Amino acid sequence: MIIELDFTGQVAICTGGASGMGLLAGQKLAASGASVVLADIDEEAVMREAEAIRKHGFEATGVACDVRDFAQVDAVAKLAIEKYGKIDILINACGGASSRMRNCKDAFRDRDPEIIAWGLDVNLKGTLFFIRACIGNMLDNKHGVIINFGSVSGEEGSPGCMDYAAAKSAMHGITKSIATLGAGKGVRSCCIVPGPVLTRPGMAGMKTAIGRAAEPWELVDFILYLCDDKHGGFITGSSHLLDGGRLLAQF
Ligand SMILES: NC(=O)c1ccc[n+]([C@@H]2O[C@H](COP(=O)([O-])OP(=O)(O)OC[C@H]3O[C@@H](n4cnc5c(N)ncnc54)[C@H](O)[C@@H]3O)[C@@H](O)[C@H]2O)c1
Repeated sequence: MIIELDFTGQVAICTGGASGMGLLAGQKLAASGASVVLADIDEEAVMREAEAIRKHGFEATGVACDVRDFAQVDAVAKLAIEKYGKIDILINACGGASSRMRNCKDAFRDRDPEIIAWGLDVNLKGTLFFIRACIGNMLDNKHGVIINFGSVSGEEGSPGCMDYAAAKSAMHGITKSIATLGAGKGVRSCCIVPGPVLTRPGMAGMKTAIGRAAEPWELVDFILYLCDDKHGGFITGSSHLLDGGRLLAQF
């Protein structure tokens, strides 16, 4: 079977859109016909990446946005609606472990509570804020797909970054809630649970049964499959483990 993805006429927002899987999803959605809004706190990078997509002849807009601030999040949703008319797809890719992103190695018993709050804000609150900003338009149009990102840290626990584990395990409940809210109204949601993905070289050292980390496209192609109604239209409320067998008890 040849799987052809076609997002012609659809509008997608990708958070964390300046790098990694958020950016790759945006690039592939744009190349498959979607108009894409890339949102990221890194303004210079997100503008550069959106321009690069446009130079390839596809449609993309970059916008600076801190997912922790609902006013900025809401402005991204409004921009998508004003410029492109609607929101069909939300790729909630923004996230990362606070221990890494804030360069904090203190044990949890000594950890600055501000770092813990930052991790919950970026990974959990930001995801919910974007869902809140986009879902009304999806429900009104009776069409939408929201992809959330969990992590194996949310499944196996992460003593080195408890806020990350907490936020990532919460993605299951959020995804099921959206799926229930959107049931019969054309709105679906799925959660992706990645093992190590080579969006940065450091992930190569994380053990998996397969014996390697994933290439970003291995995750993103699956995400696009879920987003395409022709292929993923029967899939909602589900979490999908793409971890190279990391969570197997013995390997
Ligand atoms: N890479 C992995 O191995 C891996 C494993 C498990 C889960 N995940 C999850 O997958 C998702 C994508 O991961 P990735 O490695 O592709 O991401 P990445 O680290 O390449 O990109 C994250 C992006 O989020 C942006 N960002 C950070 N704080 C922000 C804020 N406050 N507001 C807006 N943007 C902000 C960064 O500028 C960056 O561009 C994340 O949610 C991550 O937690 C990744």
